[in-house]
Amino acid sequence: MKNSHNNSNKKLEDSDPALSLDLSEEALKELATQSLALITDYFTQVAKNPLFEYTSASEFADRFNSELSLEGESLEKLMADCRSIFEATRHTGHPRFLGYIGSVSTPVGAFADLIASSLNPNVNSWRGAPAATELEKIVVGWLGSLIGYGENSQGFLTSGGSMANLNALVMAHRVQSPERVSEIGLWNLTPMMIYAGERAHFSISKAADIMGLGRNCVRTVSSDANFRLDISSLRQCIETDLAKGLRPFCVVANAGSTSTGTVDSLAEIASVAEEYNLWFHVDGAYGAPAALDPRKCFLFEGIERADSVAIDAHKWLFTPIDCGCLLFRKSDQIRDSLSFGIGDYLKLHEETEAESFAFWDYSIELSRRFRALKIWMLLRYYGVERIRGAICENNALAEYFAECVNTAKDFELLAPVELSICCFRYVPSSWAAKFAVADETQRETLNAELNQLNAKILYAVQRNGKAYLSNTTISGKYALRACMVNFRTTRADIDQVLELVRQEFFNLNYSGSSIINN
Ligand SMILES: Cc1ncc(COP(=O)(O)O)c(C=O)c1O
Repeated sequence: MKNSHNNSNKKLEDSDPALSLDLSEEALKELATQSLALITDYFTQVAKNPLFEYTSASEFADRFNSELSLEGESLEKLMADCRSIFEATRHTGHPRFLGYIGSVSTPVGAFADLIASSLNPNVNSWRGAPAATELEKIVVGWLGSLIGYGENSQGFLTSGGSMANLNALVMAHRVQSPERVSEIGLWNLTPMMIYAGERAHFSISKAADIMGLGRNCVRTVSSDANFRLDISSLRQCIETDLAKGLRPFCVVANAGSTSTGTVDSLAEIASVAEEYNLWFHVDGAYGAPAALDPRKCFLFEGIERADSVAIDAHKWLFTPIDCGCLLFRKSDQIRDSLSFGIGDYLKLHEETEAESFAFWDYSIELSRRFRALKIWMLLRYYGVERIRGAICENNALAEYFAECVNTAKDFELLAPVELSICCFRYVPSSWAAKFAVADETQRETLNAELNQLNAKILYAVQRNGKAYLSNTTISGKYALRACMVNFRTTRADIDQVLELVRQEFFNLNYSGSSIINN
């Protein structure tokens, strides 16, 4: 540590400025000016600067490993270090960052976060934060109406989709259990079962694990030929469990799967849920905002029949992390089944229903940040039509991506493009002809070699710093995955990404397939 501050003998006056962490007006303005310069540079340069300059983990450690300061450091030094963090970041806002469903934030959202953190209300209840609580209820209603869940939606904002899914499954389990779980625990309960497609996000199994149900309580339902949860397999799984004396309680549908962007047949799943009295949860963390696209909204028919829906504003509503949302109905049943002995210091004395409202009756979290402000400001500043326009363009870009892949001789599309994710692989053109005449064993070998080849290409693309893709596996094939959730991406960027993949293949000087060479 740097030299210590020896003021132990100093007599402290009540007004001693050294006691306060407030800044003088001048220092505050300087902090604001320098931070603003940094933020402005970021937003004006992000599309022009490199996406990422490869830095090893040990270089990072060396760069940021400064001594903990006891006396405080100059603002200039801090800002210089912040700039260095900006430079070393892999920029999710870059137009060719297509790797993950990647939270491209707008300046409006960034400043809204600054305002929210400055106000710093604790949005745990109306009493704790009246204005922020009201705003959160408004924003939740907006989100519900935007995705077709209904404008009287109830719910709350979460840190993200995983937390929304966990909270939904906790509610579902408590409401659906004939016994009061909070009193008797899980020990004497008949195992209760969840049904989710093979492409469900891993946060569903993780939630079951955290809840003490265990991953075995999540039945993996196979997909149909279109990568959707197969309805007859769902029925079969439920019937098998009923015959074993187990208790089916919840079915989870994808409204935009993480790997391929597929939307399950929500209306059909809703009917199965109604027939077997299951809680119907829709994981729309990524895809639900696509209901705003007039060409895609038919895919979301049936979402209004869900008991709960997860949607992430920090994925495809261009809001900075953290900002997920859980929408639900049956709020009275949820509150009754989750009600818990809270600390005396939190007891509410407000008399009207609205004023005695507390998020802790529904949410796992107690202290909660003012997340609603960034959605409220975003939707008011841009208006729904501009947000809709950005989402429609992302869907159109994914179709363009698939078209380019389909028309090229050296790419193969690995899944239908439903929303804004395109999964493909590089297949050197000399291999394609061989594939056509290969027997089953040769095809397997070729596939295994293509898997290795594409993994190498991805590694090279990611390190190159000009674009960023991720990977997934589709029917045993290693897929390169491009997620178009970025309002800065253009068709020219997509052309560049595909060219880069090709280029990295040539740079590898790949010795070729054992089968092609023989
Ligand atoms: C469908 C789906 N659900 C849940 C999640 C988890 O969301 P978060 O990262 O906000 O926790 C993701 C993340 O990509 C997702 O795609």
